[in-house]
Amino acid sequence: MNYKVLDSIKNSDEDALKEQFSQDVLTGFTSEKKYLSSKYFYDDKGSELFVKITDLEEYYPTKAEEEILENNKQKIVSHFNTQKLNVVELGAGDGHKTKLLLDELFNNDVPLEYNPIDISEDAIKGVCEKLNKDDFETFGIVGEYIPALKWANKNKEGKKLVLFLGSNIGNFSLHDSLVFLRTIWKNLSKDDHILIGFDMKKDINLLINAYNDDKGVTSEFNLNVLNRMNNELGANFVIGSFQHFGTYNPNIGAMESYLISTKSQTVRVDYLEKNFHFDEFEAIHLEYSFKYLQKDIEYLAKETGFEIVENFSDKKGHFVDSLWRVIKE
Ligand SMILES: C[S@@+](CC[C@H](N)C(=O)[O-])C[C@H]1O[C@@H](n2cnc3c(N)ncnc32)[C@H](O)[C@@H]1O
Repeated sequence: MNYKVLDSIKNSDEDALKEQFSQDVLTGFTSEKKYLSSKYFYDDKGSELFVKITDLEEYYPTKAEEEILENNKQKIVSHFNTQKLNVVELGAGDGHKTKLLLDELFNNDVPLEYNPIDISEDAIKGVCEKLNKDDFETFGIVGEYIPALKWANKNKEGKKLVLFLGSNIGNFSLHDSLVFLRTIWKNLSKDDHILIGFDMKKDINLLINAYNDDKGVTSEFNLNVLNRMNNELGANFVIGSFQHFGTYNPNIGAMESYLISTKSQTVRVDYLEKNFHFDEFEAIHLEYSFKYLQKDIEYLAKETGFEIVENFSDKKGHFVDSLWRVIKE
């Protein structure tokens, strides 16, 4: 097996995971406005549905980022020399865009090891199987971003290039991004690098279409979180009684995803031994996907101890992959 499941999320710890999930449901569903963290999207079914989203006509971020990596891979790789490099990818998903960079590094004789990190074991299994045939070593880590990065730091030698693609950063508020990036900085060494994907502010109709596709895959992806509560916490959500709603909030500059209860209903969550009431048209907030301006990228880098090496954009300017270097004494 060429991946490791961190102790914190091993099956033997299933009870602790269930406990955490149920506590998050309890906290979110008893708050004045109901909410649940977007990290619960990604059970194995959720990861599979996300890969389908990336193939959708309307979902421009994956295509834009692919274009950026294809057109700029030489420039990106030129920043690395023949020192051993650990490419550590946070939230790797199926890793298909990353392959472009890894091949380019390998072809330029950069000795490398690829360490994809994801909370979905199926995602890690998939990416490790796919890349295992390649010339460089791949060793995956199933775990949450920061504990897995810490594990990689302790167990893998070499300079680090951290990849945080697909605008995963957009799920964090400004404050949470500052804390998250500074924690990454703390776990890296001087002159390590990070390449971060930022989805830029753009025409609102494009944004709205990207999160409301015609085939209903995004809707299925969001509703899957109810299936997950049914399967893992013994809830009795009727999936057809909720509706996906994706909208742009210009005041905060983020796409937001909600599930709306289409009728007045009460749902039982056996694990919590508790019923939750939903009014007709009541919402559960599931996800923020923040959008950026150039100056936001500059601010985040400066505030968290990084220097921007170069920004790479697609032709339409929809997306930016920003390469940062760790500044330390
Ligand atoms: C939006 S997808 C992006 C996948 C890929 N980076 C791309 O650009 O297509 C987010 C990925 O991050 C993973 N993920 C989400 N929250 C995570 C967390 N807290 N720790 C580790 N992985 C996480 C999910 O399982 C999923 O595969």
